[in-house]
Amino acid sequence: MKKYIKIAIPLVVIFAIALLVKSRWNAWFNNVPEPTFAAATMPDRITLTPGEDFMTQRTISWRCGDTLAPSSVTVVKANGDFIKTEATGTIIKSRGGTDVFYKAQIDNLKPGKHYEYYVTTNGRTSRRYSFTMPQANKSTWQFLFFGDVQDTINGQSGKWFAKLQKKYPNVDFWACAGDLIERPTDPYWNYLYQTADSILATTPIVNATGNHDYLKSLYPTIDPRWKHTFAYPQNGPEIAMGLCYYIDFPDMRYIVIDTQGINDCFTLAARYNWLKKCLSGAVDKWKIVMYHHPAYSVRKNRNNLQIHNTFVPLIEKYEVHLVLQGHEHGYMTHIGTHNDHPVYIVSYMSPKSYTARQPQPGFKIIPDTPMYHIVDYNDSQMVLHSYTLTTDSLIDCIKICR
Ligand SMILES: [Fe+2]
Repeated sequence: MKKYIKIAIPLVVIFAIALLVKSRWNAWFNNVPEPTFAAATMPDRITLTPGEDFMTQRTISWRCGDTLAPSSVTVVKANGDFIKTEATGTIIKSRGGTDVFYKAQIDNLKPGKHYEYYVTTNGRTSRRYSFTMPQANKSTWQFLFFGDVQDTINGQSGKWFAKLQKKYPNVDFWACAGDLIERPTDPYWNYLYQTADSILATTPIVNATGNHDYLKSLYPTIDPRWKHTFAYPQNGPEIAMGLCYYIDFPDMRYIVIDTQGINDCFTLAARYNWLKKCLSGAVDKWKIVMYHHPAYSVRKNRNNLQIHNTFVPLIEKYEVHLVLQGHEHGYMTHIGTHNDHPVYIVSYMSPKSYTARQPQPGFKIIPDTPMYHIVDYNDSQMVLHSYTLTTDSLIDCIKICR
C-alpha cells in the first residue's frame, strides 16, 4: 500500500501542476504576435524624461531608421542661441523589425526657462517642441498620476490624454505606474504616440514597467524598446539599470521600481538593497515609491507577497509618504503604520475593470471607476485628489502632513 502512495503523490502533484500551467498558459506564455514593420523614415516617438536632478536635467529620446546615423538634439534658447548635443544611438531588434533609438541628456538647464528643441538624424529634422523648467525656490509642486492605461487601438485614451493636458497644462510631470500600452508590439507603441505625442515630447514622463511591457516566457524579458523610449537616469541596480531609478527634486525623492523583472531571489535582492540605499539617502525629504504590482491589492488573494514581504518593511521603516501602484484594475487606498502614511494607492485608467474584493477595515475600495490623481505638495503637506476619468468628479482626497 505504502508503495502505491509513494507513486501516487508525485503523480498527483505533476497532474496539478499540469492543470495549473494549462489554465494559465495564455497569461504566462502566449505573446501576441507582432506584425512586421518598416523603420521610421523621420524622427518620431520623441520623449522627454527627467534626469536624476529634476531641476537641471532632461533627456530626449526618439527613433529613426534602422542603421546608426549622426544624430543630435538642438535646444534653442529664448534669445535665439542654441545648444547642440550629440545623441547616442542603439540598434534595437524586436519581433517585428529593427529600429534605431537615440537619446541625448541635456544638462545645466536653468530654472524657470522655456526651451524649444528639435531632434535631427542624418539631416532629417523633427518639428519643434518645447518645455519649461521649474522656477527656482518653487514652493508648491503638482503632478498627475495614473495607473494602467492598456487601451485598445483606436480606443479612448487619446480623448483622455487630450482632456488631461488641457485641464492641467502646467503640472510638473506625469507619472504612470506601468502598463501604459496594452502589449509590447509596434502597433501599440504607434497608437500611444498617435494619442500622446505632444504630451510625451513636452511634459516629463515618469513611467514604471508593468507586465504588459514585458514579453512573456518562463523568464520574462522587457520589451527591448522600453528603456530606449523612456531613457531614465542610470542610477538603478546593475541588473535593472534604466528600469529601476530615482529622481531627486529639491525636497522630494521619487523612486521607481521594476517589479515585473523580479524572477528569482537575486533579482529581488538587488532591488531590495538598492531601495534601502535610496530610502536611507532621502531621510529628510518627501519620499514617493512607485511600482506596478500592488503589495495590497484591490482583488481577493492578489496581494503580491514578494513585494509585501520585502519592500513594504523598508517602506514602513523609512516612512515613505506615498506608494503608487497599478496592475489590479480598481481603486484602493490603505494607510500604513505612521499615523497618516505611508498611503498605498492602487489605481487604473483603463477601459478594463476587474472584480474588486469586499472592503475590509483599513482598506477603502472603489470598483469599476477608472481614475486619475492630482498630487500637490509643499514643505509641510502632500494632498492627493482622486477624480473619476469619465466625469472628472472628485471621489477621494487624502492629506499627508510632515
Ligand atoms: Fe499589469
